[in-house]
Amino acid sequence: MYCIKKVTNDLVWVGANDRRLALFEGVYSVPTGVSYNSYLLTDEKTVLFDTVDKAVRQRFLENIEEALKGRKLDYLVVQHVEPDHSAVIPELIRQHPEIKIICSAKVLQFIKQFYDFDIDSHVRLVEENETLNTGKHNLQFIMAPMVHWPEVMLTYDSTDKILFSADAFGCFGALNGALFADEVDFAKDYMDEARRYYSNIVGKYGSQVEAVLDKASALKIEMICPLHGFVWRSNLNEIVSKYMLWSKYEPEERGVMIAYASVYGNTENAAEILACCLRDKGIKTVIFDVSVTPASEIVSAAFKWSHLVFASTTYNAGIFVTMEALINDLAAHNIQNRRVAIIENGSWAATSGGLIRESLNKCENIDILKNNVSILSGLKTAQLSDIELMAEAIGADFTAPVGINQNNPAALNTVDPATMFKLSYGLFVLTARDGNKDNGCIINTVMQITVSPVKITIAVNKANYTHDMILKTGKFNISVLSEGVPFNVFQQFGFKSGKDTDKFADCKEVLRTENGVRYVSKWTNGVISAEVKETFDCGTHTLFIAEVCQAFSLSSDPSVTYQYYFDNIKPKPQPQKEHKKGFVCKICGYVHEGDTLPDDFICPLCKHGAGDFERI
Ligand code: FEO
Repeated sequence: MYCIKKVTNDLVWVGANDRRLALFEGVYSVPTGVSYNSYLLTDEKTVLFDTVDKAVRQRFLENIEEALKGRKLDYLVVQHVEPDHSAVIPELIRQHPEIKIICSAKVLQFIKQFYDFDIDSHVRLVEENETLNTGKHNLQFIMAPMVHWPEVMLTYDSTDKILFSADAFGCFGALNGALFADEVDFAKDYMDEARRYYSNIVGKYGSQVEAVLDKASALKIEMICPLHGFVWRSNLNEIVSKYMLWSKYEPEERGVMIAYASVYGNTENAAEILACCLRDKGIKTVIFDVSVTPASEIVSAAFKWSHLVFASTTYNAGIFVTMEALINDLAAHNIQNRRVAIIENGSWAATSGGLIRESLNKCENIDILKNNVSILSGLKTAQLSDIELMAEAIGADFTAPVGINQNNPAALNTVDPATMFKLSYGLFVLTARDGNKDNGCIINTVMQITVSPVKITIAVNKANYTHDMILKTGKFNISVLSEGVPFNVFQQFGFKSGKDTDKFADCKEVLRTENGVRYVSKWTNGVISAEVKETFDCGTHTLFIAEVCQAFSLSSDPSVTYQYYFDNIKPKPQPQKEHKKGFVCKICGYVHEGDTLPDDFICPLCKHGAGDFERI
């Protein structure tokens, strides 16, 4: 029985999942399985993009027959000949002898190497940027050598702005009913597997990945369809931005990955003491036992973290076997741009440290701390200072650089919230509509980011009801407040929750823009309607990137700035009738009584943080 998923009106996913595979490519564990993606475009001509692994051949063939609905198969675009995507080509040709194979000369060479069938009578060769019209759709072919094999080709559907990306942007893990990345919590549940896939499959070829990212940046891409894992149809930057880091071998996070190989626990002990010292300095740490954790996970972590520590016992006068395999693996995957420290152990002739250093010195831009910590069997109290010195040397990268005095306001790692008020914020009523419910709130972060098309960003606190409405509907209006706006507008939209009140109760006119969302016409000099294109999770807030679909001016009055609001609109604090101890919110005047104010305190009225409170 077939199992297919609609991608767009003209495109169907006809791939399949394998959850029984023990080792992908015979080496990478895939505990959550893997998907083999294939896509069928049904235009005036029908076009299949790649096939699948032989393990899922039967389901795939059923899927194609269902998606074709009795039509013939005109084209097979072969982007990658690795057998997990090409194994079913010979059978497909037998079932659809009329098919034309669209591929590059290199793909043709590889197909001939892997399979024995008369391909020459079926093939149509294409070159870089050559196009194929299939009716409504125009396909453009883009060569992507070494992402992951030399023959790899990508396809860009310029009609629907879809990039068929072959192995690029793929991910380990079977698809559990969800085809699109936005149907799951990708950052939380899948990013580690996307990084493990990238670093182990194409990690070695960073410069080739960069070249493809460069080519792709010239295209307007609204959807990415890879050969493994999820289809990306929104928030593409979530994965593209990671590829930009990974391809340059730049770390995603500042912190220390410690990998140790220990026979009787003494090297492990040293690694753990180092981790404790680093944590005491506020530095993030992760630890792996290389004899337990699969190398692919540690390679992936090495691509993530900024600093790496390798701790290994000496074995057969060399590096312990599992550590040796890891170091070779990292070098093979071209690890670069990292600070490294080494701990070695040896009961009579410790050599592992020097050998690890020798191997890693062959990698580009690996800066290894000068002194190894060398242990004779087990760490002794007198040697704790060596570990502490190593932690200090690593920690020096995480504190102020030389020449900056910690007492100086410019010292690193200090954020004075008041400095943020030096930025020239405006003040705006942000409105949204969900069903019959209208709502709005006050925000101060609206910024135009592009001119063609006109795009803006807004940052909205997740605690606001309006935030949830925009996340759901993708539409909002900005009413730009002008000087003269009274304080009660801020009270109306800023200090109440739309969950409990109708914030438009006092607005006599019901004015809406074309998107159906209300706007505030009084005390407003301009109105902007926008449609959300991308979102970024920023912790307490969501950053929305939106395309402006309507904008008009209402008056020539100057816009209110944050400074103007403080100087002219917000009521001045009244003398306290009773002597209260506590903190007052500078934004709305809410008083929190008590001797302390927690750092993560959020004003229950206006949702501003502890940084906006001052002691009474
Ligand atoms: Fe999934 Fe490089 O093939």
